[in-house]
Amino acid sequence: MQDILPLWFGEGQWPTSQIAIEAAQNALLAGDHFYQPNNGKPRLRSALAHYMNGLYGTSKTRQNITVTASGMQGLALTALALIDSGDRVVCIDPVWPNLGESFKIAGGEIYPTTLVARDGRWHLDMEQLLAKLTDKTKALLINSPNNPTGWVCSAEEQKIILDHCRKQGIWIVADDVYARLYQHGSLAPGFQHLANADDLLISINSFSKAWSMTGWRLGWITAPANLEKTFAHLTEFNIACPAGFIQEAGLAMIEQGEAEISLLQHRLRRALTLTRTRLKHFEDISFIEPDGAFYCFFSIRGLTDSLAFAHALLDQTKVGLAPGLAFGPAGEGYLRLCYAQDEQVLNKAFDRLDKGFNAVRRTLIENK
Ligand SMILES: Cc1ncc(COP(=O)(O)O)c(C=O)c1O
Repeated sequence: MQDILPLWFGEGQWPTSQIAIEAAQNALLAGDHFYQPNNGKPRLRSALAHYMNGLYGTSKTRQNITVTASGMQGLALTALALIDSGDRVVCIDPVWPNLGESFKIAGGEIYPTTLVARDGRWHLDMEQLLAKLTDKTKALLINSPNNPTGWVCSAEEQKIILDHCRKQGIWIVADDVYARLYQHGSLAPGFQHLANADDLLISINSFSKAWSMTGWRLGWITAPANLEKTFAHLTEFNIACPAGFIQEAGLAMIEQGEAEISLLQHRLRRALTLTRTRLKHFEDISFIEPDGAFYCFFSIRGLTDSLAFAHALLDQTKVGLAPGLAFGPAGEGYLRLCYAQDEQVLNKAFDRLDKGFNAVRRTLIENK
């Protein structure tokens, strides 16, 4: 199909900054063609520790940081480090499916607890969550700001969760890849703000989202220092190390890329304003306010087959939205729209949706 507007992707349309491109080019020209230490280049690890300390007021050193070839690899290594066959893992959904899947591959059994949409916002049912977090639970997976909902776990909620997990000896695996993509500031509340050095907390991060580097495959894990060797071994037997010249691009962005993040934050705020206004004109949908990441996850009254709806919409309008079912059974009845686009692209997509959305809804839901 030609001329599709693919708003189903989990990435923005904006290219990576020249800062990263030049740093990678220079590294390649200077001969950075060889294996690197398993946990990443010491300079990048130290720079990331410094960056995290600046954001969260922590006192991390490079022993706390493992550079990974993406946030996804950070999740997979963390699952291998923590999980034995049959371990119970609690997950807050709807959520990007790879989170639970990487823990399942490592042998974990996933127990989801589901966010509730009420009065135009997402809510965590704290009672239900705490009831699932028992002394038999190995880990809690929590992605905030969340893909697909845009839900952000508040500092108050994080404190309750951290206190509870401390008492029960449960690992918190915080998928923080959207931490800087927050609608109400330049950093979402994070467990790193609250945790002590000896808390069972692992934070997963990525250059993909805040620095528009999805194709570079670079991320990092922040973990207690006693896991440094474990992550080195797991990386050795996996990819040996992330590529050196890519790490140089990451280092350049950490040292010089803050203005790029501010620009993205500004773009996302404008894009959400436009999306909010235009989505509200659609019949029978419930718009639920996202506080972070770059998605709108909206429900359509009576929708029971989000995949069929997304297919029909693509057919009729050439606009691609992700079906809610892709984010687990709790996502059925929803569609996800990635609004990380220029206003021109968003307007073009909404002009098309204006013509086709209600017709598809009538055919698939009303006249069924
Ligand atoms: C919640 C979440 N975690 C992790 C990732 C992984 O990002 P990457 O592997 O590109 O670093 C994504 C990507 O979409 C995501 O949405």
